[in-house]
Amino acid sequence: MIIRPMLSEDIVAVAAVHQAAFARQTYSQDWISCNFAAYPRMQFFVAEVAGHIKGFIHWTQKSGFRPEVILELEQIAVHPDAHGQGIGSTLIRDSLPLIKAQFAERGATLKHIIVTTRADNAAQRIYQKELGAEIEAVITNLYSADEVFMIARNVA
Ligand SMILES: CC(C)(COP(=O)(O)OP(=O)(O)OC[C@H]1O[C@@H](n2cnc3c(N)ncnc32)[C@H](O)[C@@H]1OP(=O)(O)O)[C@@H](O)C(=O)NCCC(=O)NCCS
Repeated sequence: MIIRPMLSEDIVAVAAVHQAAFARQTYSQDWISCNFAAYPRMQFFVAEVAGHIKGFIHWTQKSGFRPEVILELEQIAVHPDAHGQGIGSTLIRDSLPLIKAQFAERGATLKHIIVTTRADNAAQRIYQKELGAEIEAVITNLYSADEVFMIARNVA
């Protein structure tokens, strides 16, 4: 498995993973395309296994290009046929140093990481394990259900 920055030619494959992972979300290719175009505010990395894209991670800088970056893990998805093989964990672990290096190019450092997910989504565990994120609030009835707001503090 390799984790690398997403390229424009990956849009269709990443959109296919997005579509397979998020049943309630529509127009995956438009969503991936417009967010991909928002570099460097938004940055995508992909997990490639034997030449096939099996997962992606979408990081977003919040509230301006700050010297101390508040970074959101906006979305992460692994194709359902490849769950439970460590791809999601590797995407988080291996993309973070790449994005920190990109911040360093403009003299910025990473301060905190925020991430939200449905209160019943087991993905919370991966955020606790890989980022040290903790639940700081539960927001009632946000997208399709209650949403937990998690923060990993002082991750520089
Ligand atoms: C969340 C997701 C990316 C995890 O990817 P993955 O490659 O299956 O995760 P890993 O194999 O690296 O597992 C990481 C750990 O988190 C746990 N975990 C993460 N997501 C889980 C899920 N949805 N269900 C059960 N366990 C999950 C695993 O048990 C594992 O823990 P362990 O190593 O102690 O056994 C994947 O389940 C997914 O694409 N889900 C649908 C999209 C989604 O909900 N994304 C998050 C919200 S943006």
